[in-house]
Amino acid sequence: MRKEKIIPNMIYGTAWKKEKTNSLVKEAITCGFRAIDTACQPKHYSEELVGLGLQEALSELNLSRNDIFLQTKFTPINGQDLNNMPYNQNDDVVVALEKSFETSLINLRTDYIDSYLIHSPFGPAEDFVRVYQKMEEYVNKGLIGQIGISNCYEMPLLEFIYNNAKIKPKVVQNRFYKDSGYDQEIRNYCNLKEITYQSFWSLTANPHLLSSMHIISMANKYGKTIPQVFYRFLNQINITPLNGTTKKEHMLEDLDFLSFKLTNEEIQTINNLLTSKTKTT
Ligand SMILES: NC(=O)c1ccc[n+]([C@@H]2O[C@H](COP(=O)([O-])OP(=O)(O)OC[C@H]3O[C@@H](n4cnc5c(N)ncnc54)[C@H](OP(=O)(O)O)[C@@H]3O)[C@@H](O)[C@H]2O)c1
Repeated sequence: MRKEKIIPNMIYGTAWKKEKTNSLVKEAITCGFRAIDTACQPKHYSEELVGLGLQEALSELNLSRNDIFLQTKFTPINGQDLNNMPYNQNDDVVVALEKSFETSLINLRTDYIDSYLIHSPFGPAEDFVRVYQKMEEYVNKGLIGQIGISNCYEMPLLEFIYNNAKIKPKVVQNRFYKDSGYDQEIRNYCNLKEITYQSFWSLTANPHLLSSMHIISMANKYGKTIPQVFYRFLNQINITPLNGTTKKEHMLEDLDFLSFKLTNEEIQTINNLLTSKTKTT
């Protein structure tokens, strides 16, 4: 039986881990991650191995399914490998969603998904709305805890989704990078509407921020690593980062990111780096 879950501070991401997916998921849970992100998109994710790793971790650590926040996605056809996907090319989009969702339940060895996202916007709008409505049905049946959208960078689209939804979206999962202006407007909207903003590419898209003297000196001041400082910053501005590390030491270090707190001034300094048009040092 699904119980209300606490929204996690950091989520372990499982993309591109191929045959190491199960051992890394198990390691992540053993290190202390309690939230996992995946997708029913064999091109980039091994969802079945996420399920295997999850099952092994739960039994070894004596945890129950309910201790884990499990998030997966419906990937529309334009994001799938046509030779390896959970539905047929000619399926109606709602049938595609039903098949994808069923496959996720089987892959993840569960009877409910805590957080279910549409991997990216798609058209026509009527089809998108029909898929969203089917997901609302799943929420009403207790099969899904919350609904969200990923790769949504246009405000009018997010407003359209929000305004047309009976069950409002609870997650926006986006690339956190300079080209989108770090989604400032989208993030403001998320804060206003109580939508959790989840970031990916948080480290990989931002070497210019991570090498800034400001962040380096904060890491020195607190005796923390640069990724810890950046994750803490994200967390303090209401962002839940996805973390895709493959290293145990990074898992342990990163999970300790709540053991210190940046001052308002430091948050402002990093925020200024996000909007700065010049070099960040
Ligand atoms: N919705 C979407 O379209 C979408 C797209 C991309 C990703 N995602 C999700 O986001 C997850 C994370 O992916 P990402 O691209 O955002 O990866 P990321 O977490 O930004 O970057 C991970 C990379 O940073 C390196 N790294 C170095 N120090 C690290 C540290 N202390 N902690 C963590 N990583 C460190 C990692 O190397 P080591 O392995 O050596 O630590 C790895 O190469 C994915 O697995 C997936 O679940 C979603």
